[in-house]
Amino acid sequence: MQIHVVKNYDEMSKKAASIIIKEIIVKPSLILGLATGSTPLGVYEKLIEAYETGLISFENIKTFNLDEYIGIPREHPQSYYSFMNEHLFKYVDIKKENINIPDNDINRLNEIAKEYNNRLFGNQRDIQILGIGANGHIGFNEPGSSLSNQTFIVELNEETRKDNARFFNSLEEVPKYAITMGIKNIMYSRKIILLASGKKKAEAIYKMAYGDIDTRVPASILQLHPDCIVIIDKEAASMLPTNETFIEF
Ligand code: PGA
Repeated sequence: MQIHVVKNYDEMSKKAASIIIKEIIVKPSLILGLATGSTPLGVYEKLIEAYETGLISFENIKTFNLDEYIGIPREHPQSYYSFMNEHLFKYVDIKKENINIPDNDINRLNEIAKEYNNRLFGNQRDIQILGIGANGHIGFNEPGSSLSNQTFIVELNEETRKDNARFFNSLEEVPKYAITMGIKNIMYSRKIILLASGKKKAEAIYKMAYGDIDTRVPASILQLHPDCIVIIDKEAASMLPTNETFIEF
């Protein structure tokens, strides 16, 4: 795991975007794993800028999102389908058929998990972008979920629902279930870029990097990934036992 500590959110976004842009330049048909939430927004802005300047194209890029809510339609403004369209896809030349976001059809829960899982195994991600929950989750792999899970339907825990309530009118409106890539799917990526900013993430980052590999902190499994780059701002790094800006182990 390589940990880069940068000054602030903007530097974090720039650094992550520059890694992705370089990879797209050498492999225009990159398979990109995408995350939602506040953390990757700056990266998406920088990728859009790179597209607008002609540096990269999304024409041959395939994307796979980590997760999707169950219990709200795809057209809901807070679905991850809407999120991706609003913050990235509508600005770039990606082909609709190359966009993969888990289906959230409540009447086909078993099938949708299997279907997404099959698609993931045929398409190893060249880069997977990850945020991290304050509780150490990655995707919606909540504390306690098996480290060998593949795509599954998850009941969201209360901390996650409270964290995400800021995007909804009330906590009651936050879906209780989601479909998510499992840890095993996330680990099956050539490179992982995990991003975090702010004090609220400091404890999760500390446990992820320095704690035991433990289902209670799902992100801790990333210690075993052969190419995991962690890019965090000073606040998210504030509990790490060093003042270095680059840590590799
Ligand atoms: P955030 O969410 O980027 O909105 O903080 C991260 C996550 O829960 O994975």
